[in-house]
Amino acid sequence: MAKRNAIILAAGKGTRMRSKLYKVLHQVCGKTMVDHVLTQLEKAHIENIITVVGFGAKTVEESLGHRTRYVLQKQQLGTGHAVMQTKDILGDIDGETIIVSGDTPLFRAETFEKLFQYHEQRHAAATILTSVAPDPTGYGRIVRNDVGIVERIVEQKDANVQEQAIKEINTGVYCFDNKKLFAALNKINNDNAQGEYYLTDVIGILKGEDEIVTAYKMDDFDESMGVNDRVALARANKVMRNRINKHWMQEGVSMIDPDTTYIDADVTLGRDTVLEGNVVLKGKTVIGNDCYISAGSRIIDSTIHDGVKITSSTLESAEMHNGSDIGPNSHLRPEAEIGENVHIGNFCEVKKAYIGEGTKVGHLTYIGNATLGKNINVGCGVVFVNYDGTNKHHTNVGDHAFIGSNSNLVAPVNIAKDAFIAAGSTITDSVEQYDMAIARARQVNKKDYAKKLPW
Ligand code: UD1
Ligand code: CA
Repeated sequence: MAKRNAIILAAGKGTRMRSKLYKVLHQVCGKTMVDHVLTQLEKAHIENIITVVGFGAKTVEESLGHRTRYVLQKQQLGTGHAVMQTKDILGDIDGETIIVSGDTPLFRAETFEKLFQYHEQRHAAATILTSVAPDPTGYGRIVRNDVGIVERIVEQKDANVQEQAIKEINTGVYCFDNKKLFAALNKINNDNAQGEYYLTDVIGILKGEDEIVTAYKMDDFDESMGVNDRVALARANKVMRNRINKHWMQEGVSMIDPDTTYIDADVTLGRDTVLEGNVVLKGKTVIGNDCYISAGSRIIDSTIHDGVKITSSTLESAEMHNGSDIGPNSHLRPEAEIGENVHIGNFCEVKKAYIGEGTKVGHLTYIGNATLGKNINVGCGVVFVNYDGTNKHHTNVGDHAFIGSNSNLVAPVNIAKDAFIAAGSTITDSVEQYDMAIARARQVNKKDYAKKLPW
């Protein structure tokens, strides 16, 4: 089979985004637009992928890494000029080249596959991927002759009134016979409304040379959407979100209100997990089976095992093992690891700490820089005092210890297993097994003294 190549056009600044961030780096469901395009091309088994970079070249290259080769377009003189920059690499290759814009994040690998097949079956020099837009404004229009054969593409700004009425648009994706593409590119000029070298002019040129030019019309306009401004970005996010949610529901996840459930592209979920509305799952989060995640939860880059219950809480780079629960209104910060069947209740914060199986942390507690064993009871309002103003220090608490309410454990300190800390203690010295530590002023009751007070 002939060699398949791909070019991603990602050199533009994206003026219409009005952003300091380069257009193709704006995210759709937690992943940059250009990464979505690259991911789908990879899925379509294309060996040779070249990304044309220009504005923000370094940032784009850093974000995609070695998954693609790069070519620099120093000046952004148009999409045709952008493709020409790949000539040194691709110009002499026999085979087909697919071109995709970095600002069309919704295309699926299957569509690219179908485009290749359509193109190959017809032995075409060029095949345009088209769709029918409810509102074609801004897109290049597909001009067909009386018998429906593609003649050329006309850009919005160059189109006359009749052409502007055409609803079939150029999605910006094409499949070309590679050598014919580069030969035709030599013939384009910038004699148009935008003074740019349009890639789209190649179609009319090939047509004029009696080459076979075809168009593969896809059914789903949404998939072909190009993002030029923030309004389209929000719309693309919505389309992608619906697609992701549908996928996970089909995989066995229940969603009470999919319209308000926000799952990033790289998140994974297990069966029989239930998500209430207004749940946000971001980054590389992994959620197991049989979990229940309530409204108002936000989970970023975290690993949640099976049967975990999360109620209106925020988790960042944390891990929760089987059967544990948290919330409402608690916060796991980076490197918090919650063991099996641990209970974390209301208004607790845990950072850089391991909490062993069966331990309970019910209310209003801060745990930072600590290792807790199994079956410990941490009372209400306990503070692990981990910071001396300069350094962070570690606290260890052994299995089955009891930490009374409103205690401060001033690190570094060790509480042995089976130790008991009386409520209200400020612990600065280690406590041995079976000892009870009480560290607070003794209470004095003054007989009838309240009567003398002005209250
Ligand atoms: C382009 C097409 C239009 C099509 C639409 C689909 C042309 C002339 N027009 O228009 O027919 O309907 O896409 O979304 O091709 N880029 C470069 N270098 C440049 C210019 C652009 O790399 O010099 C990149 C951009 O970063 C972008 C892509 O090419 O990813 C498309 O450019 P853009 O300016 O968005 O083209 P459209 O006006 O959307
Ligand atoms: Ca565009």
